Amino acid sequence: MFRSLSSQVLLLLILTLCGAASAAAASSLGLIYSGNLDGELEPCGCSEAGDLGGLKRRATLLDRLRAENPQLVVISSGGLLHVEGAGDRLKSEYILSGFKQLGYDAIGLQWRDLALGPELVLEAGLPWVASNWHDDSLPASRLIERSGARIAFFSWLDPQQSPLQQMQGSHTLVDDDVAGLHRALRQAKADGAITVLATELPLKLAASELVLEDVDILIQRSAYEEYGEPVMQGKTLVLQPGSRGMRLGRVDLTLVDGRIQSWQHQVLPMPDTIPDAEKMRDWYEDYNAAVKAAYLKRVELRKQREQGQSPYVGEEVCQACHQTEHKIWSASDHAMAYDDLEAVGKSFDPECIQCHVVGFDKPGGFVDMNMTGHLMGVQCESCHGAGRAHVEAKGAVALPNSDWDKEKMCAQCHTQPHSPGFAFDKYWPKIRH
Ligand code: HEC
Ligand code: HEC
Ligand code: HEC
Ligand code: HEC
Repeated sequence: MFRSLSSQVLLLLILTLCGAASAAAASSLGLIYSGNLDGELEPCGCSEAGDLGGLKRRATLLDRLRAENPQLVVISSGGLLHVEGAGDRLKSEYILSGFKQLGYDAIGLQWRDLALGPELVLEAGLPWVASNWHDDSLPASRLIERSGARIAFFSWLDPQQSPLQQMQGSHTLVDDDVAGLHRALRQAKADGAITVLATELPLKLAASELVLEDVDILIQRSAYEEYGEPVMQGKTLVLQPGSRGMRLGRVDLTLVDGRIQSWQHQVLPMPDTIPDAEKMRDWYEDYNAAVKAAYLKRVELRKQREQGQSPYVGEEVCQACHQTEHKIWSASDHAMAYDDLEAVGKSFDPECIQCHVVGFDKPGGFVDMNMTGHLMGVQCESCHGAGRAHVEAKGAVALPNSDWDKEKMCAQCHTQPHSPGFAFDKYWPKIRH
């Protein structure tokens, strides 16, 4: 009797002590992270598998997560933009203004964000961080304080990857002061902060070129679309976001005395079951109106340039001699490709039109539905090439693409982002003619 009582008392004592100790020092912190958006303001919706992400859904998801946990820290490793031509400026501006509504705590900077010049970035009003920026127009770090914890966010732009490197003169936007970065990380850690470093470098290079000793969390170079599994590199937790803004990553940290003791990781996809955020509605309508205005301007210019006869004739002309093929094609989804764009309100977006009509941006190709209504949808000439010469020769002249590999024809449009499930053997039987 005495024995069992004493052991119970002892057990109780131990439990009480443990409870008191952990209650004093343990806490938890939720961290949402993302990486390269790569210019994907919205998903194209070309396929179910690709219909993930977009800023409107991201806003809803973040609002929901914050409602559950107002203390969430939300950070990005940057790489928001993807600029290939002057036409990408409009979208870039809207990505930056859209991102402003998401309430990120810190955003790293990548070279691609600077493609339209640093001014656009500096004026965006976003919480950028560029730890080795050449002057003080951007902060070298950001301190985020939540539920008693402190997170110090750093971001390193690799000088080796600078697109300005090949240029003459002193266009240096960043320095290569790794020792300075190291000192700042060490100081932040000594001040009790959890240090986070974001960089475009892959883990291997980050580990060899930057000093990770005082980095608690490294956000390494984004992977294509899918998030990588977190790994431990020494004492550093290494995260790898997925690109194109389809998902968000979440780590729940258990902190003891302000240091990471354990973590749990989760990837949150953004399918179309997440509704668009009401607060983003005006922003999105403005964007589409601006896209349409830019498009109409372009059409006007092109109409003026249009001269002479188009090399494209349109499917009706082919029908005269190829009735069987035409009948099969008419019943295929290709014939409806432009209608499907209209159905989602995107028939004025050049980014979408190019694969949903005949000869967009090519001489004599699709301009708009009034001027070139006979070239709407994916037609015979999308695959076989412009047919006027063939028609005028009553079939004696081969079509321009007659020596093309079949798969090459499809690859013009059935690209990974827009048709992730594409396999020639699976798709061809559906449209064989
Ligand atoms: C005036 C009749 C006529 C019209 C109109 C016509 N074709 Fe043809 N086409 C032919 C004939 C005849 C052949 C067979 C030629 C041969 O076998 O040498 C042929 C062959 C083809 C072939 C197979 C050979 C090759 O060159 O690849 C394709 C593909 C083709 N046509 C596509 C089209 C398309 C696309 C259009 C509309 C842009 C079209 N044709 C309009 C008469 C026509
Ligand atoms: C690189 C070419 C390409 C571009 C650019 C493109 N699409 Fe598509 N789209 C496709 C292909 C290919 C499919 C068929 C996908 C499949 O079934 O595998 C498709 C299918 C679709 C569909 C039909 C989906 C369904 O459920 O039947 C819609 C709607 C659509 N795209 C909208 C868009 C919008 C909006 C944009 C611009 C944001 C866009 N597309 C840009 C190639 C493209
Ligand atoms: C999505 C792409 C695509 C579209 C759209 C398309 N074709 Fe084809 N067509 C092909 C391919 C691929 C072949 C097969 C070529 C081969 O077998 O080497 C082919 C074959 C043909 C042939 C030759 C048939 C034979 O027996 O050799 C003709 C004629 C033809 N197409 C006419 C048309 C006409 C007319 C249209 C529009 C009404 C059309 N095609 C639309 C891709 C397309
Ligand atoms: C000019 C761009 C373009 C080319 C070239 C093209 N496609 Fe497509 N394809 C599309 C678009 C856009 C859609 C979606 C149409 C829609 O539903 O609105 C589509 C849809 C399809 C579908 C229907 C998907 C489904 O699940 O039912 C099949 C099948 C297909 N394409 C096969 C092919 C094959 C095979 C080739 C090559 C021989 C090819 N396509 C070439 C743009 C293209």
